[in-house]
Amino acid sequence: MYSLAGRRRNMTNATSASGQPIAQWNDYDRERVMREFAGRDILSLEDFSRADFESVFEAGDRFDPVAKSRRSIDLLAGQILVSAFFQASTRTRLAHESAMLRLGGQVTGFADAKMTRAGDFYQESLKDTAHMLEYYGDVIVMRHPQIGAPHEMARWASIPVINGGDGWGEHPTQVLTDLFTVRKELGKVDGLTFVAVGDWRMRTMHSLAYALTQFDADLIYVCPSDEEPDEGLIKSVRGRGLQIRRAEHVAEVVNEADVIFIEPVVQADYGKGRDERGDSVATTDSRYQVTAELLATKAKRSAIVLHSLPRMDELSTNVDDTHYARYWQEAYNGLVIRMALLALVLGATP
Ligand code: CP
Repeated sequence: MYSLAGRRRNMTNATSASGQPIAQWNDYDRERVMREFAGRDILSLEDFSRADFESVFEAGDRFDPVAKSRRSIDLLAGQILVSAFFQASTRTRLAHESAMLRLGGQVTGFADAKMTRAGDFYQESLKDTAHMLEYYGDVIVMRHPQIGAPHEMARWASIPVINGGDGWGEHPTQVLTDLFTVRKELGKVDGLTFVAVGDWRMRTMHSLAYALTQFDADLIYVCPSDEEPDEGLIKSVRGRGLQIRRAEHVAEVVNEADVIFIEPVVQADYGKGRDERGDSVATTDSRYQVTAELLATKAKRSAIVLHSLPRMDELSTNVDDTHYARYWQEAYNGLVIRMALLALVLGATP
């Protein structure tokens, strides 16, 4: 586990790309956020409180102008991010790496476990790998096909570990990005109805359900019968007060949605390190498909569509040109939220 000793020295007054100071927390709030986050592993949203969400979003607000200006600041100068990606990624890895570089830090790591001793004859354990990586950097972001692998890494590493997706487990940084996007686009998360369409065995779906327990939001899920959420998850989130129910067809409930959250139903096996596409690919049933025609005829005009991407045919490209689409903003916010998380866990609170 991680020690705070020696990390508080990193607390610094950052300046934005334009040379203006980044909006600062007052001393009381800065201390509170430091206590909550400095040295913390970000493994799951199950243990995130409402205050934790607010702190990450507020940090995101502060770093947004830096990301928007496409320049770098020196907040994390001298710090190194280790990217440990045992499974394919475009967005999660590059957003974390870009975030670290924007904050003045540096990056090392691997994007293919096959090029490491964990992925060759030795099958080096996560424990032994953790004891190497902790000397090479100050924070680790990790993706792995096995549920709980980042938790195992965090058990042994003396530096914070961020879960960049663990098999069919969770994807906390993606859902922090998604709710930050909702807050920016609709001004709030409370009082909204989310319709989440796709494979409910997916890690984003799990993180979303846990996250919404901390807000006054309703969740309607739409998925094939063989891609249902685990009963334990439904019981757990209901026990925390989330109003959650199932629908058969997105068209039945899309009129209730403030946020349409889509994931594929035709997709890779997240339990595999690498899952290449075969010759034939299934197509998505219309019950789980969102198109511009569906939105124009049935959705609220104010509804927004999120998709963490990559997509198959569950999200028609004709939605891209509608006012409902917010997934490009979501992708940009992925950078902002990773800046916020890296700064917070490294104790560099603006
Ligand atoms: N949304 C997401 O996790 O994308 P990558 O798999 O490309 O990281």
